Amino acid sequence: MIRLIKSTFYKEEETKKKLCNFISTAKQLSFGQECEKFERKFAKWQGRKYCIFLNSGSSANLAIIQALLNLGKIKKGDNVGFSALTWATNAMPLFQLGLNPIPIDIELDTLNVSSEKLSETLKKYPIRMLFLTNILGFCDDIDKIKKVCDQKNIILIEDNCESLGTIYKGKKLGNFGVASTFSFYVGHHMSTVEGGAVCTDSDQLATMLKLVRAHGWDRNLSEKRQVRIRNKFKVNSSFYSRYTFYDLGYNFRPTEINGFIGNLQIEYIDEIIKKRKANFIKIAIPIYSKTDKYYPIKFDHINFLSNFAIPVICKSQKVRDELVKRCDQKIEIRPVVGGDMTSQPFFYKYIKHLIFENHNAKLVHQQGLYLANNPELTEQEISEIIKIFTHNSHNSKK
Ligand SMILES: Cc1ncc(COP(=O)(O)O)c(C=O)c1O
Repeated sequence: MIRLIKSTFYKEEETKKKLCNFISTAKQLSFGQECEKFERKFAKWQGRKYCIFLNSGSSANLAIIQALLNLGKIKKGDNVGFSALTWATNAMPLFQLGLNPIPIDIELDTLNVSSEKLSETLKKYPIRMLFLTNILGFCDDIDKIKKVCDQKNIILIEDNCESLGTIYKGKKLGNFGVASTFSFYVGHHMSTVEGGAVCTDSDQLATMLKLVRAHGWDRNLSEKRQVRIRNKFKVNSSFYSRYTFYDLGYNFRPTEINGFIGNLQIEYIDEIIKKRKANFIKIAIPIYSKTDKYYPIKFDHINFLSNFAIPVICKSQKVRDELVKRCDQKIEIRPVVGGDMTSQPFFYKYIKHLIFENHNAKLVHQQGLYLANNPELTEQEISEIIKIFTHNSHNSKK
């Protein structure tokens, strides 16, 4: 069986040995220096001023929305656009925090929202914020999406949990919006077992995210910022300052264990994404080009493609179902991320009255699947994947 995830870490043995040694000698395992070191390293690698390290990508999504609410940048009841094809915990924070979720359909050839789809949606629904997902390492014209957002005063936030390392028009995905979220879950590009982050260049947002991450208190702010916030709220006593809660927060802190692993794994990140890119080229090009049973996916507009799974969108449900059978016990497969969000029970439980036309997201939901792209795939496994996905295609291209 060719598994989606082969190991917990890149260079698993060596990483686990170092981890055992760290745990047995560390004085502190709750949030501390290792986490802060990882934040500096990741922010530098991503090319952002700040990284706020959290315990998952889902927490990162909830934290950024809460931070924007706390700062008054968005308010309850605002329309917020999001990619109809995404992961559930991209859309869920919008429901949980009282916003009005507006799904935006994707383009079939890039699997992502385009500036055109955004503009079509804006004709019907004005939005205050766009929570854009960069799906599976791909993107559409995100530079134009940003322009539309700038013109219309829409806050652009990227959910980059699936596209760490992709470069479009010379810029890393995750650097187009005001802030972007990341996941370091074991199946994603880089693993801290569980983990996530928000990156931003905004001092104000970074400060609020640190409050949101830990109880709404000021414990992890710089001394200068602590003085400022304590003066603002007239907290003069060092006794009460320890337990003063300034705004709405959670406990989304990662541990030193996650931080330590992050510091080890980030040293391999360029190697990991290069291997995944090479796998993608070896697998996807023959699969996409040898048969016309699948919709083509465009990626030649992307400078560097970085994904952790390879999507295949069949031209009919029958072809997809046959493929699912053919993969049984041989290749581990999944639906394309969370599929069309409006088809998910949590969505129609809460949004009953509105009808959205997410034709392409629905098609991907009904006719798509994805398979592994992990850095440990062997040449033999790659050949096996290609064989199964191009098998016996009576309508093969020459
Ligand atoms: C687009 C997207 N956003 C958010 C998440 C949530 O990340 P996590 O699993 O770290 O909570 C995922 C997870 O797969 C995802 O694909």
